[in-house]
Amino acid sequence: MFLPVLPLKLLLLLLHIGIPAATAQLQPDFYSQTCPKAELIVRNVIDKAMARQVRNAASVMRLQFHDCFVNGCDASLLLDDTPNMLGEKLALSNINSLRSYEVIDEAKAALEKACPGIVSCADIIIMAARDAVALSGGPNWEVKLGRKDSLIASQEDSNNIMPSPRANASYLIDLFSKFNLSIKDLVALSGSHSIGKGRCFSIIFRLYNQSGTGRPDPAIEPKFREKLDKLCPLGGNGNVTGDLDATPQIFDNQYFKDLVNGRGFLNSDQTLFTNYWTREYVRQFSLNQSKFFKAFVAGMIKMGDLQSGRPGEIRRNCRVVNSRPVDILLES
Ligand code: HEM
Ligand SMILES: *[C@@H]1O[C@H](CO)[C@@H](O)[C@H](O)[C@H]1NC(C)=O
Ligand SMILES: *[C@@H]1O[C@H](CO)[C@@H](O)[C@H](O)[C@H]1NC(C)=O
Ligand SMILES: *[C@@H]1O[C@H](CO)[C@@H](O)[C@H](O)[C@H]1NC(C)=O
Ligand SMILES: *[C@@H]1O[C@H](CO)[C@@H](O)[C@H](O)[C@H]1NC(C)=O
Ligand SMILES: *[C@@H]1O[C@H](CO)[C@@H](O)[C@H](O)[C@H]1NC(C)=O
Repeated sequence: MFLPVLPLKLLLLLLHIGIPAATAQLQPDFYSQTCPKAELIVRNVIDKAMARQVRNAASVMRLQFHDCFVNGCDASLLLDDTPNMLGEKLALSNINSLRSYEVIDEAKAALEKACPGIVSCADIIIMAARDAVALSGGPNWEVKLGRKDSLIASQEDSNNIMPSPRANASYLIDLFSKFNLSIKDLVALSGSHSIGKGRCFSIIFRLYNQSGTGRPDPAIEPKFREKLDKLCPLGGNGNVTGDLDATPQIFDNQYFKDLVNGRGFLNSDQTLFTNYWTREYVRQFSLNQSKFFKAFVAGMIKMGDLQSGRPGEIRRNCRVVNSRPVDILLES
């Protein structure tokens, strides 16, 4: 093959990174030949993590949302910052909030032992999120696999994309539509808040100064507001946590029943019952759990299909990119 004369560094870059495979073809049996126990291994790790602390399920499941919305499901979220790269971990929505990264590390370590260099961290997040839901009493479903791990991460991209807990429904409808996710997908996926906790920091404004009015959010049911005021006094510790719904360890449709009763934790939750376009879905899901589960699974699969089209690799350690000769050259 004739190679034009290229600068050495550029040539090495092409050889080592390869030509980007625009988008991977995702399929359910992707590891059936190369790592047949992959899904079993991940499920066991999630099971053990939940035995240590039930909340690990919620925290691991949330990682799929924060990974997939920022440049596709590529485990960019998991990259630690480096001197040359501010990653996503310290972005506005993630700092002091995302947790259970070590559960993904554990799954990766077990997979590297069983089938080294085969299973991507991006796929681990997708499997782990599914397992967390299934093991919390929610639906189980078949996931598509075959994702690659990103070579970079961007704190700025995360800051620009991930929604604030103050967001209203019309903003969220708009945001989700940019990812080809419908109003129904938005409401169903918000049902992920059926498990887990949020911080006082995330609700203090709606308790004491909603939209700069100096008043609380009028959509909060008074008894519930009393309870939240006690949990989160003005000037108190913003890291104190409260339950996202009345049954925070069980994946069920209680979240939607709570919204109907004005007992949503976050503004972004309660606004789904205030808004005309989302309210009917909240009502339906509150009355029919199967309907919620079905829509939730469809939403998770659609969200899991998001891809950036950028080049990728199978990371050996989910927190750092595999070092390539070109990195060493560029640094020297
Ligand atoms: C619709 C827009 C969304 C907003 C504005 C939002 C915002 C938040 C906020 C503010 C918290 C609490 C964080 C804290 O206070 O530290 C939270 C927790 C959580 N979110 Fe969301 N979220 C959204 C959608 C989603 C989606 C689509 C998923 C997953 C499919 C998800 C899964 C979770 C889970 C499981 C928790 C609890 C985590 C834990 O206990 O560690 N969220 N979310
Ligand atoms: C929703 O939020 C957006 C952006 O923050 C704001 O411009 C808009 O006025 C809000 N809409 C409603 C109905 O409050
Ligand atoms: C958007 O979602 C629909 C299904 O809801 C799907 O058929 C279509 O291919 C998706 N388009 C893109 C660009 O992802
Ligand atoms: C409420 O928020 C508005 C606008 O952000 C601000 O100007 C005002 O000082 C706040 N009021 C209180 C009591 O904190
Ligand atoms: C929560 O705790 C972290 C350290 O663990 C601290 O840096 C941060 O400022 C605290 N956040 C709030 C809102 O109090
Ligand atoms: C609940 O939703 C499921 C799934 O969409 C549907 O098959 C079922 O008929 C609904 N049940 C009732 C009582 O409406």
